[in-house]
Amino acid sequence: MASGQLSRAGALACSGCRHACHVMLYCDTKTQLFGRIPIRHIILMQMRFDGLLGFPGGYVNPSEETLEAGLSRELLEELGVALPISAEDHVDCCHAPASSPSSTSRLIIHFYVKKMEEEQIKEVEKEAASTATDHGQEVLGMVRVPLYNTKNGGGLAPFLSHSFIGNARSQLVDSLLRLDMIAPEELHKALAHSLKIHT
Ligand code: GTP
Ligand code: MN
Ligand code: MN
Ligand code: MN
Ligand code: MN
Repeated sequence: MASGQLSRAGALACSGCRHACHVMLYCDTKTQLFGRIPIRHIILMQMRFDGLLGFPGGYVNPSEETLEAGLSRELLEELGVALPISAEDHVDCCHAPASSPSSTSRLIIHFYVKKMEEEQIKEVEKEAASTATDHGQEVLGMVRVPLYNTKNGGGLAPFLSHSFIGNARSQLVDSLLRLDMIAPEELHKALAHSLKIHT
């Protein structure tokens, strides 16, 4: 466990803490962009009501439901699909960034990763845009993460230059590395380029 991180059990032992759970749903794909650029994986994020990119999920009250049942409930609201999430999909949790340097945040952010089949991911996209109760309100739409870098700098770098909620951007970047979804050199190039885009 990296420093500053909590265990799932440690997080649940915090009295007076609030909890939020979000999940990165993804699959492998053989699809190629323009018939020649491998897309490699479909990773689902969402455009939130506040204009920020984030992962599907939300607040969970562990005195009323397990973290995973609460996350499933949020997924039903935001994606229109009841997806079972298990404690084994839990990747890490940490205190949300505090509003002032002297205070400790009472919000604990849990992050999950779940691998699915390509057909299931496409079904989620379809339902999220049609039957999900939050569609057009709390969630403006699902987006796929472009994992490639085109010759003229398109792809992952401009995607990473957008604004993200909380630490969703590092949750994405850390997952790409941990799951071996992109070569570290390619990722570092995209990260460096993403910082120069709006300056
Ligand atoms: P309401 O139904 O309006 O209460 O929203 P919600 O339950 O769907 O909660 P939301 O998804 O907004 O998540 C709750 C809090 O967790 C947010 O206010 C952010 O601080 C944080 N958060 C939201 N999405 C992400 C994410 O993808 N990653 C991280 N690290 N934090 C997030
Ligand atoms: Mn929600
Ligand atoms: Mn949410
Ligand atoms: Mn909610
Ligand atoms: Mn809601």
